[in-house]
Amino acid sequence: MPKFYITTPVYYVNDRPHIGHAYTTVAADVLARWHKIQGDKVFFLTGTDEHGYKIAAAASAAAKSEKEFVDEKAQTFKEAWQEFNVSYDNFIRTTDSNHILAVEKTLQKLYDREFIYKGDYEGLYCVGCEQYKTKDDLIEGKCAEHNKEPILMKEESYFFKLSQFKKTLEKKISSDEFKIQPKERKNEVLSFIRRGLKDISISRKNVSWGIPLPFDKAYTIYVWVDAFLNYLTGAGWSGKTDSYPEMWPPEVQLMSKDILRVHATIWPGILLAFGFPLPKKIFVHGYFTVNNQKMGKSLGNVIWPEDLIKKFGVDGSRYLLMSSLVSGQDGDISWGKLAEKYNADLANGLGNLISRVVKLSSKLKIKSSKPQLKIKNLNKLFEEIRLKEILEEIWKQVAWANKYIEEKKLWELVKTDPKEGKKVLENLISLISGIGEVILPFLPETSLKIKEILKTGKIKPLFPRV
Ligand code: MSP
Repeated sequence: MPKFYITTPVYYVNDRPHIGHAYTTVAADVLARWHKIQGDKVFFLTGTDEHGYKIAAAASAAAKSEKEFVDEKAQTFKEAWQEFNVSYDNFIRTTDSNHILAVEKTLQKLYDREFIYKGDYEGLYCVGCEQYKTKDDLIEGKCAEHNKEPILMKEESYFFKLSQFKKTLEKKISSDEFKIQPKERKNEVLSFIRRGLKDISISRKNVSWGIPLPFDKAYTIYVWVDAFLNYLTGAGWSGKTDSYPEMWPPEVQLMSKDILRVHATIWPGILLAFGFPLPKKIFVHGYFTVNNQKMGKSLGNVIWPEDLIKKFGVDGSRYLLMSSLVSGQDGDISWGKLAEKYNADLANGLGNLISRVVKLSSKLKIKSSKPQLKIKNLNKLFEEIRLKEILEEIWKQVAWANKYIEEKKLWELVKTDPKEGKKVLENLISLISGIGEVILPFLPETSLKIKEILKTGKIKPLFPRV
């Protein structure tokens, strides 16, 4: 049985989740569900990133202890994923005690094997990103992501010998052994690596909210190193042995472009130091903007997942999220556009199709027939994570069927030529039943409801107009 291990980033708990986080997590869920249907052995990991300066600062701004604060925020992520019907297999928190123990073991081993040395660190650091910046990364001296000047960090520090993996990484990425998709992202990463990889500081002197370095407790571990290891510990790695967990390596690691560089350098560097296989693929999706602006609390334009669900329901929201981003590209959303799409595709599209067909069928004796729907290259589309395109292919069929009903004037046909009317209805029911099956990974509840409606002939409201 093929295995399929998929991860999302562990999200920062400085705030509750917004729809950017929801996009990644639901997309991972769609892929996990699809692979389950294919009979693969699936493991789907998500979680939260809870250490570091940024989180400690957020806790202190909320006048709470770090522990109290991260417990509360981690809970908001769990609740959101439950609301979105996300079928993860494990939710890892980087403050879990088994994660902490494993991280300590890992760092000790890296030290014992001389992948870590002590030196002086001086460089620019963006707290928002929790990442080092080079001059090239800055726009007018500010971090492009956070529009803030990075701070100059100067301290004694422990370094990880990342530079020695430059050649190997370059080779594995360019040959697609460690695949980075889409291509443009792969090329960006490659040109970054070709400019040279420096050893990186993996310790912090002045950040107390973190895991102490096992060989020098005056320091805590750099939050990214702590966070990366979740992908191993979340799959059951204790750090005690040199063998990786059964599900290793991930088939897909989903994320957006903000965190690709570290995932394509530091992260595989650590794995190479351990001699562990690299992830098969990193898939980088685009960014949401809202009314063509970056989404942010300060701009007051954040779309919160719970508001989305309140308005469009769970499956409605999953549908809207998954159809908002063309594979690998950024996408702009607004409440107006979402509502329009919901009404067109779900209320008037699929919902209307089902209710018309079921109503007309109830007057005639229709045998239930086999699901029938062919989507060309469906496997390949999933393989390439072109989720919006898959939905578009399915919805072409919905539109076709609605048009067909109009053209045939089916409501008259069933009266004037019941035999022909019945034939048409049977075909439509096969099609709806097929649609019900292929939408399962995207709209799990609706898929079940369609099955039930077709079995009982009783209509249930699927997508009330908004
Ligand atoms: N904690 C780190 C990740 C550590 S993984 C070892 C982190 N957390 S985060 O909360 O900032 O999450 C970043 C991720 O959230 C992005 O890579 C993406 O998956 C998702 N998104 C956050 N904002 C987004 C948009 N505006 N649009 C789409 N997805 C975005 O970075």
